[in-house]
Amino acid sequence: MRFNSLLISSFLLVSVGLTDCRRTDPRSRSYSGVERLTNVRSRNSSNWAGAELGIDNGAFFSVIGTFTIPEISGPISSDVNVWVGIDGDGAGGTCGDRVLQAGVTIYGDPANGHFQDSYAWFWWFPANAVQFEISNFSVGDVIGLVVGAPVNSTYGLAMIENRTKKQAAIANLSSTYALCGQTAEWIVEASLEDDEPLANFSPVTFTDVRAYTHDGHTYGPQDATILNILNGSEVLTSVSVSEDSVKIEHV
Ligand SMILES: *[C@@H]1O[C@H](CO)[C@@H](O)[C@H](O)[C@H]1NC(C)=O
Ligand SMILES: *[C@@H]1O[C@H](CO)[C@@H](O)[C@H](O)[C@H]1NC(C)=O
Ligand SMILES: *[C@@H]1O[C@H](CO)[C@@H](O)[C@H](O)[C@H]1NC(C)=O
Ligand SMILES: *[C@@H]1O[C@H](CO)[C@@H](O)[C@H](O)[C@H]1NC(C)=O
Ligand SMILES: *[C@@H]1O[C@H](CO)[C@@H](O)[C@H](O)[C@H]1NC(C)=O
Ligand SMILES: *[C@@H]1O[C@H](CO)[C@@H](O)[C@H](O)[C@H]1NC(C)=O
Repeated sequence: MRFNSLLISSFLLVSVGLTDCRRTDPRSRSYSGVERLTNVRSRNSSNWAGAELGIDNGAFFSVIGTFTIPEISGPISSDVNVWVGIDGDGAGGTCGDRVLQAGVTIYGDPANGHFQDSYAWFWWFPANAVQFEISNFSVGDVIGLVVGAPVNSTYGLAMIENRTKKQAAIANLSSTYALCGQTAEWIVEASLEDDEPLANFSPVTFTDVRAYTHDGHTYGPQDATILNILNGSEVLTSVSVSEDSVKIEHV
């Protein structure tokens, strides 16, 4: 029970952090449409580092990526959130209020007496975030992530796979609003909750990175906008992309 309440409270904290993060990224408000995203190749964010793909008139249907659980260090209150998603940033207007994400939070856990724990979650904001059935991953576990939703629908799916163990959990999701499908992203996110610092993390590389549109197109990350986390005057991350990978490093 103690474990459960600890986990839940950590989860709620981070959930709030994620919500705040999405909303407090001041740059996201300055975008009026997805066309501009394709022209902006690099920008700073208060909380997102990674790649964000936006295509003109493209409604993303599904996003996939694989990564290995990194090792973290830093203040015990620090954390890092690694996820793939659709929408949530840069889309502007009402689309800024929704995002479909699946990923893993890796965090320091003072109550448990050791530094690194993790849990896996999926979230279609504004519905509540939910923890996956398989969750407590260790450094080096290879994780496959999938999110998807049919165009203009309020249901979708999230899947997490332990590639090493060949074990997967699939979740049916529904939310109040359909996604816009305007951006697809592969992100390492800092929690802004109570100014919780971004953990120092070993490099996270998303591989097998793909985004699919409902009209049958497939994209890799090479045309994505690169995001780096800027804290004050300090850039905390460094990002590079290839045709099918996104690498995010703590600097
Ligand atoms: C991000 O912020 C740093 C530090 O202020 C600055 O040097 C850099 O040019 C910024 N990058 C972008 C893409 O605006
Ligand atoms: C997660 O797994 C680690 C390593 O097996 C274990 O020490 C830790 O107690 C677990 N944490 C939770 C919250 O289950
Ligand atoms: C999705 O909804 C928008 C807005 O109502 C509409 O313009 C668009 O045609 C719809 N797309 C499909 C594929 O039904
Ligand atoms: C993932 O698979 C590895 C290798 O089999 C295993 O050691 C680890 O416990 C698994 N993690 C979870 C959360 O099931
Ligand atoms: C997921 O939702 C679909 C559509 O509502 C339904 O047909 C299916 O049975 C659900 N699957 C599970 C595992 O709940
Ligand atoms: C940004 O820097 C401040 C001051 O050093 C620190 O308190 C805060 O946790 C940092 N934020 C992140 C996301 O690392």
